[in-house]
Amino acid sequence: MAAYGGETHERIPAHVAIIMDGNGRWAKKRLLPRSAGHRAGVKRMVKLAEHAFDSGVKVLTLYALSVENLHRPQEELQGLFSLIREYFSGDTEKIAARGVALRVIGEIGLLPEDVARLIEEGIKKGGDGSGGTLVFAIAYGARQEIVRAVNRAVAAGKEVTEAQFCEFLDTAGLPDPDLLIRTGRERRLSNFLLFQSAYTEFYFSDKLFPDFSNRDLDAAFASYAARERRFGRIK
Ligand code: FPP
Repeated sequence: MAAYGGETHERIPAHVAIIMDGNGRWAKKRLLPRSAGHRAGVKRMVKLAEHAFDSGVKVLTLYALSVENLHRPQEELQGLFSLIREYFSGDTEKIAARGVALRVIGEIGLLPEDVARLIEEGIKKGGDGSGGTLVFAIAYGARQEIVRAVNRAVAAGKEVTEAQFCEFLDTAGLPDPDLLIRTGRERRLSNFLLFQSAYTEFYFSDKLFPDFSNRDLDAAFASYAARERRFGRIK
């Protein structure tokens, strides 16, 4: 407990969410196509996920594709879809073998049919959850998620409490993120987990995502551990 000096919470955040930004700029700096940046991003993502669960993280949520990203040029989108196809067709095996359950949030119905199907099949091949839960936000937008949840509550025909409302969100059953990391120098949420991040701690890194190393993740954990979370109360 004492290693990072955290007093008011566990030193390793139980739920970490990451906005994996900067793949395009990483590629541009190397005069490579943007798709090369996304491929490097996936490689880094796989390593970071292993490191996070090894460190004691219970839930890791990764922003893989926003609903707004779906308006990017077809060439880039097709590259991203290919990476998603590859990943969910087999690359999930290693993490699943560690007992990590897989889950997706977002509107995968907006994706090409075969991509959505591969994601659904890949998710089913996840672990039993004993090693944690890896959540992919794909075709995800927080405002859209909140509107979906409101409509589900309306369809249920009753007023809901805050706790009941959470059960209508895509993230039903998951704890709120303790730490949200954004790489790539930007300091914004970009329609990610708006409802769930009410009391989340934020960590911004100037590193472009493919350069965000396991040690950088440790630095984010150390920063988190040094903070005092009060949830609007006083000590
Ligand atoms: C933002 O960088 C990144 C994305 C839009 C995609 C992130 C996706 C992955 C790392 C892979 C997801 C794949 C799987 C298998 C789930 P950017 O393109 O906006 O970078 P830029 O700001 O430098 O242009």
